[in-house]
Amino acid sequence: MGSDLVDKSGLKSANKNDIFIVSGNAKHLKDISQALISFYVVHAFQDAGKLSEALHHSHPAAIILDEELSPHGGLTVLQQLRRTESFSLIPVVFTAHQGNLEQIGASNALPLVRTLVKPYRFSALLKAISDQVNAHVEAQWKMMKEPQRAALENTLSSFNSVADLIAEGKELPYADIQQSCEPLVAAVQSGNFKALLQGVRGHDNYSYVHSLRVATFLSLFGDHLGVKGNDMSILATGGVLHDVGKMMIPHQVLNKPGKLEPDELVVMRSHVTQTIDFLENTPGLPRGVTIIAGQHHEKLDGTGYPYGLKGKELNELARMAAIIDVFSALTDRRCYKDPMSPVQAMEIMEKMGPGHLDQHFLLSFKELLLDATSESDIH
Ligand SMILES: [Fe+2]
Ligand SMILES: [Fe+2]
Repeated sequence: MGSDLVDKSGLKSANKNDIFIVSGNAKHLKDISQALISFYVVHAFQDAGKLSEALHHSHPAAIILDEELSPHGGLTVLQQLRRTESFSLIPVVFTAHQGNLEQIGASNALPLVRTLVKPYRFSALLKAISDQVNAHVEAQWKMMKEPQRAALENTLSSFNSVADLIAEGKELPYADIQQSCEPLVAAVQSGNFKALLQGVRGHDNYSYVHSLRVATFLSLFGDHLGVKGNDMSILATGGVLHDVGKMMIPHQVLNKPGKLEPDELVVMRSHVTQTIDFLENTPGLPRGVTIIAGQHHEKLDGTGYPYGLKGKELNELARMAAIIDVFSALTDRRCYKDPMSPVQAMEIMEKMGPGHLDQHFLLSFKELLLDATSESDIH
């Protein structure tokens, strides 16, 4: 094993979901690779030479490096990586046995390294990778101009605070969420939305990335249609909050690569009612935010969910939200699929027909995309 997992043709076009795993222990390498395969595009290497060769072709989102590695051990490779300028910013999760205190101490002292002591739980490994990848992406936001930097930092912090509020059963402080979205609206209004989309590329919290993208595209669409003031704020906050109920959906259903079974589909679809259950306890929540969150999966012919609303029962906001949610989902990057290009996404959405999406708004959104983006800009 090891090199047989390396897809050489794919390496040059490595995307942000690539993880390199390096270990001289074939069983460890195989176990970790198989466990991670549904979360990342995994490339496994059994020796340092193969890793080095691969790194010259592309950089992964993170490297999982084991202490056990020929000829000089994983720690030596780790130190080399940190000394080499072009590799020094690749996040590393270093794995070592509990007894190897010297190795653990040395690896912990290096920048952008998270050390996991063996044996560890698989969830601890997943969290360590995710934290490492995100710390790297978020560190790059510090170099962005305002208001783009604040747009990303604020919305992430709001999104994470919602996770805590849900866990603690507390209500949503809407004014804080609204305030956190002000830079996002400002970034869109000043024509800088592309920086937001580029900024979340490679971030490992898919729900956050999707919500930020929906908030950005909804605000962009609103701006294009002449929406102003408080209504822009509703589009942005509605986008950030539209799927928060997904935080209550089990990970294996939410991140399942293939088609969902009928019972899983029921669970998945319940994210809308879960979102509404959470939002309805929010004092001062604008009705528009509830519409975006509650009706973004409705279809004009009445076959959508959860209410099966039809035709005129769906107002402009619900129609816009449905278009933006489908477009974002198709062009989002997932661990199990490459993002679709905007052109491909529009073709699919046009084929969905008038029973699903509002054709007038769809045409308007298409015009906006043609004006504002090129293919490489938006995922
Ligand atoms: Fe949704
Ligand atoms: Fe969504």
